[in-house]
Amino acid sequence: MGFFKSLLNKNKDVSLHIKPDYQSPPVTILYGTKTGNSQLIAQQTHKYFKQCGLESECYNMDKYDVGRLPSEKNLLIVISTDGEGELPPNAQKFFRLLQHEAMPHLSNLNYAICALGDSNYDNFCGAGKLIDKEFHLLNAKPIINRVDCDLDFKKAALQWIQDSYDTIVGIKKEPSTADKIELSVPDFLTTKLLKRYKLSKGNTEQAVYHIELDNTKLQVNYSAGDCIEIIPTNPKQLVDKLLTIHKFDKNYFLKEYNQTLENVLLHRFELTKLARPVIRRYLSNFKIDQLEHVYSKRSELKTYLEKSDVLDLLSDYPTSINEDQLISILQPLHSRYYSIASGYKANPDKIDLTIKTVRFNHQQRQYEGAGSIYMTEGLNEATSIDFRITTNPSFHLPENKNTPVIFIGVGTGIAPYRAFLQDLQAQNIKDKAWLIWGDKHQADDFLYEDELLNYKQNNTLAYLNAIFSRDQEEKFYVHHCLIENKTQLFEWLDNGAHIYLCGHNAMGNDVKNTLLELFQSEKGMTTDEAKRHLKELKEQNIIHEDLY
Ligand SMILES: Cc1cc2nc3c(=O)[nH]c(=O)nc-3n(C[C@H](O)[C@H](O)[C@H](O)COP(=O)(O)OP(=O)(O)OC[C@H]3O[C@@H](n4cnc5c(N)ncnc54)[C@H](O)[C@@H]3O)c2cc1C
Ligand SMILES: Cc1cc2nc3c(=O)[nH]c(=O)nc-3n(C[C@H](O)[C@H](O)[C@H](O)COP(=O)(O)O)c2cc1C
Repeated sequence: MGFFKSLLNKNKDVSLHIKPDYQSPPVTILYGTKTGNSQLIAQQTHKYFKQCGLESECYNMDKYDVGRLPSEKNLLIVISTDGEGELPPNAQKFFRLLQHEAMPHLSNLNYAICALGDSNYDNFCGAGKLIDKEFHLLNAKPIINRVDCDLDFKKAALQWIQDSYDTIVGIKKEPSTADKIELSVPDFLTTKLLKRYKLSKGNTEQAVYHIELDNTKLQVNYSAGDCIEIIPTNPKQLVDKLLTIHKFDKNYFLKEYNQTLENVLLHRFELTKLARPVIRRYLSNFKIDQLEHVYSKRSELKTYLEKSDVLDLLSDYPTSINEDQLISILQPLHSRYYSIASGYKANPDKIDLTIKTVRFNHQQRQYEGAGSIYMTEGLNEATSIDFRITTNPSFHLPENKNTPVIFIGVGTGIAPYRAFLQDLQAQNIKDKAWLIWGDKHQADDFLYEDELLNYKQNNTLAYLNAIFSRDQEEKFYVHHCLIENKTQLFEWLDNGAHIYLCGHNAMGNDVKNTLLELFQSEKGMTTDEAKRHLKELKEQNIIHEDLY
């Protein structure tokens, strides 16, 4: 099917059929999720309402018929934020249909939004805010204020469930029973390191490692494209500096945690990253005019948060802060995610990872990342590691095994592609995959070189473009490779190829901008048509993103 024909057919999916007389249930619950937290809250809300005798239906946003909206009575939405303030993949079509010209005013609709996010991001709970704004424009009525939950979402989410219930049934449940709802994500599993070796050859400060975790006893099943989640230990040198420079007593015993200050700082709280709430709480304890000034200026605050950690905060704005006060201003230590670099079918006994050490110098200080240093240097064969699998359904191989796939990435973005390639090889699928991957220098940074050349040799890869940006005078990146191979790119797209993007956000943006330009120059689309087409490709899960 030609490119334009397929485009026309795909456009059918975005039409909106309003169902004015739909017999809606008393409550409909929708979730937009990337890693499952919103799904958990939505499904537990549904279960709780059932226990309380309140009828409801619960849907993944992607599977929900948006034409029902004008007939809904009470709509509860749980939605996380992905990317840089974006909607998660399964919410994008819903949002576009909300903005569809055929969408009438929703004056009869009552709604409540539970937004999930991470206050370390600039656009905190951005997706929830976007949906809230859109409902407001459509004249829908919020039954309670939107709740913006941080990573430790449990308390706020439970309150949201209870408040939504109370408001819908019109009676306050006294005492609140929502706190009995199980909102725990799966338990962490314990395993050990099997093997770790350096993949990159140059720069040891920021080396990339291949890591293998033992899965012989656990036999945890996973799909290529999934990630593991770990809670790191903070870099020891940072904890030491914080304790000595600011003269905290490392043996100070914190009853609440039943641990010494040193242990709590190593294992419980974020130190390498500074978040807005930490500064807010610091300022509520101490009057610091200069910091007040920074806090009140959005762009100054953003720059300060990006470049500083907790040690910087206490050194740049010194006070008489004591051990208890320090703990009271900090954020809990959060998970780090790493793409699984092995295919379960080929390697059920291990979980491979590809991790880059985050270490850099700034203002005469060395900074280290908590998760990457823990995984690449802290962990050893004698210690155990806790992890759990985070499924990543929007970044799996297409169900139809004959679908061609174009994998585009840089650096550690190779990890899930290695897993995909192992799966393709295990199923003897040939000539369906094209890898466009890059890093800085071929001599130092060609991760998994022999394996990739072998995949090309045995036709698991139809094409391999390994691109090294700094090996020639003029920088050359993966998006330039798309331009160079545009005829082949459109042939693949015409044959129904899916595009995968993995690695850092900047690379993802460059590739998406290049696709927009190519849709215009090669297919005669206007800027708006090209943007719409890119959106459609994402909504239809033809473009899959795993950017960080
Ligand atoms: C879905 C997903 C999959 C991921 N897969 C992988 C993977 O396969 N391999 C992998 O190595 N990483 C992967 N990451 C990134 C990983 O989760 C961590 O963000 C990364 O290891 C940095 O965490 P850290 O704890 O070491 O640094 P942090 O302690 O979080 O950061 C410390 C400081 O370093 C800065 N910083 C963080 N990262 C960088 C960087 N790259 N360059 C410069 N400064 C930085 C931060 O802004 C902060 O100021 C993935 C992320 C996501 C969301
Ligand atoms: C790659 C990535 C990007 C994220 N971007 C944002 C963001 O821009 N703003 C925000 O508030 N939270 C952001 N988050 C945090 C998630 O919204 C948060 O972890 C949420 O609990 C995930 O819920 P889910 O499992 O339902 O997707 C991001 C998380 C990841 C992994």
